[in-house]
Amino acid sequence: MRLTGKRVLITGAARGIGRAIAIAYASEGADLVLLDVGDDINGCPYPLGTASQLSTTAHVCREAGASVAECLGDVRNSGHLRAATRTALDRFGGIDILINNAGIAAPSGRPAHDVSDEEWELMLDINLSGSWRALREVIPTMITQGSGSVVNISSTAGMVGYRYFPAYVTAKHGLIGLTRAAALDYAPLGIRVNALCPGSVRDDPLLEGRMLFEIARCLAVPTVDHERTFAGAQPTNRLVEANDVATTAVWLGSDDARQVTGAVIPVDGGFTVR
Ligand SMILES: NC(=O)c1ccc[n+]([C@@H]2O[C@H](COP(=O)([O-])OP(=O)(O)OC[C@H]3O[C@@H](n4cnc5c(N)ncnc54)[C@H](O)[C@@H]3O)[C@@H](O)[C@H]2O)c1
Repeated sequence: MRLTGKRVLITGAARGIGRAIAIAYASEGADLVLLDVGDDINGCPYPLGTASQLSTTAHVCREAGASVAECLGDVRNSGHLRAATRTALDRFGGIDILINNAGIAAPSGRPAHDVSDEEWELMLDINLSGSWRALREVIPTMITQGSGSVVNISSTAGMVGYRYFPAYVTAKHGLIGLTRAAALDYAPLGIRVNALCPGSVRDDPLLEGRMLFEIARCLAVPTVDHERTFAGAQPTNRLVEANDVATTAVWLGSDDARQVTGAVIPVDGGFTVR
């Protein structure tokens, strides 16, 4: 139980990697505030997590022994993130760990000159600015506490380029920039900030994630072909599972990683080493 007594805010927790991280954190003794938009977003061409999926995540975490608060909110809205922070303070008296996980994969599938203003801004607003907004709301509490850990879920798309995903790649590279800048700002105050970069993660039906499916759809290739291509490009020759990301997020968030800050940690089967 590496997270006993830790109070954790996780964004994008209704399904997928966010759900896997929530369950792993609950199993390690953490108490949770789970936030998700719980609705579709205008301009994102696929369904996002629902309120009911958020409740499912919360239910599984409670079964694992966690106290859990559910918040419907959009990371594009500072007021929603302030309310989630307030919920953590009211319920648990503080926030020890922030997991910036909420993100979208599309609109994508085109080169940079074919991206509209609206598409570009939506991607950066959610995948980059959303993490900065959450950090901005949570950091004052961590400064008062004299401790804290922020885990930004970037991507291998934050470390290398991918064709036809210019806004996603830019946002995820930007998130690594934010990680490094904030790590320096807050290290003297006892707060760590790190980036975790998953490779292509299998959509686990139990977790109801669908990003890999959506990425394959943007590229107009069948999901199985996309999975095969990625598995072949990873020296371990197997796709990353959401739980591989979650166990690394547990370590990174925990005091076991107390000397790790400003780090960019791939969980990609060696994809970015090549
Ligand atoms: N799946 C992959 O292969 C992969 C690889 C690398 C990085 N990632 C990153 O991991 C994170 C989670 O991805 P996933 O695969 O679980 O995707 P997913 O689409 O299955 O889940 C994303 C969750 O974030 C929520 N969300 C989206 N926009 C939001 C907003 N504006 N406010 C609040 N919540 C919002 C959705 O409702 C959904 O529940 C994302 O940041 C993604 O970029 C995923």
